Amino acid sequence: MDLPSFLWLWKIAAWSMGLAIAAYFLLAIAGISLRVLRLKRMPYPRGLREFHLAIGGILVCLVLLLLSIGIIGTLGYYGNLGHSPHLVAGILVVVLVLVSAGSALTIGKWDKARSLHLLTNIILFFGFLFVSFSGWTIVQKYLP
Ligand code: HEM
Ligand code: HEM
Repeated sequence: MDLPSFLWLWKIAAWSMGLAIAAYFLLAIAGISLRVLRLKRMPYPRGLREFHLAIGGILVCLVLLLLSIGIIGTLGYYGNLGHSPHLVAGILVVVLVLVSAGSALTIGKWDKARSLHLLTNIILFFGFLFVSFSGWTIVQKYLP
């Protein structure tokens, strides 16, 4: 691939991916704190739940941005999709993040919502590994 002409696009992707991983870890810390407090029947500190929700919203936007960049960049270059397992990895991560956010919004209204939120976020950890590894493998092919 003529990487330089697409480099700016992949640079945005690299930064977004860094931010997405940072967001995931912030969410894990805030989420685990919420869980520990809830199980100890202690009140949440002011703003902790809102912080978790806000970072969650940012994570949703970042993965949607990454999906668009991946699809637009690949279509722009090849004219079609599906060049590697990275496509499956990318779709998997986006679906997991959307299910996680969707389940989070029903916590308190639906009794399985909390366990679904926890489960999707544990799988999401491996999803991020898969998407990073498969993405990085493609980048290797284009490096001189
Ligand atoms: C995708 C965006 C996300 C949104 C919108 C979101 C939102 C929420 C909300 C609203 C709650 C309920 C808080 C409460 O009132 O008790 C919650 C709980 C929680 N979240 Fe998230 N979250 C997101 C991602 C994550 C991620 C990525 C992780 C972990 C890596 C995580 C871990 C947790 C944990 C451990 C709890 C506590 C569950 C419990 O109380 O047992 N969340 N989240
Ligand atoms: C949540 C994160 C990500 C999502 C949702 C995502 C999504 C996608 C999608 C859907 C494609 C089109 C693939 C195809 O049709 O074959 C793509 C392409 C691509 N992605 Fe990602 N991606 C993510 C992270 C990454 C990362 C971390 C890297 C690099 C380390 C990366 C590098 C690439 C490259 C180089 C392509 C071009 C495909 C090719 O030339 O075969 N992506 N991405």
